[in-house]
Amino acid sequence: MKLLVLNGPNLNLLGLREPEVYGPHSYKTLCSRIQEHADAMGVQVTIRQTNHEGILVDWIQEAYGVYDGIIINPGAYTHTSVAILDAVKAVGLPTIEVHLSDTTKREAFRRISYIRSACVKTIQGHGIEGYLEAITYFAEHPPA
Ligand code: DQA
Repeated sequence: MKLLVLNGPNLNLLGLREPEVYGPHSYKTLCSRIQEHADAMGVQVTIRQTNHEGILVDWIQEAYGVYDGIIINPGAYTHTSVAILDAVKAVGLPTIEVHLSDTTKREAFRRISYIRSACVKTIQGHGIEGYLEAITYFAEHPPA
């Protein structure tokens, strides 16, 4: 199984960025933990991060026919981007939405997620572990 893990804006600043909200670990650590877990589960992963909405749309489109599923933390674009929602709907790949923090316990504007309606699952508030849970979910529910 091949999974694409996408991270949106400011996730490259993990560790530096509001550690009380997002945890003390760096983006590099996040990537290593994802890679280690994928290896242990026998799943292939590609991990990417960008600060740009259109690049996320491009990567979701390019995933069609290449990947079996997408794990995405769209960052702030979660709460604003119809384009990312449309891209996920267009390619029809099973997608899991992940957030490090629990957006339901934060500002009201974070309670809206455009992408959620196109996702098979949302995992939030579990920090880095949330990404690993998403990989485990795909390993246990292999897309047809
Ligand atoms: C986030 C939550 C979003 O509200 C925020 O804009 C982020 C990170 C999270 O992982 O908790 O950039 O997606």
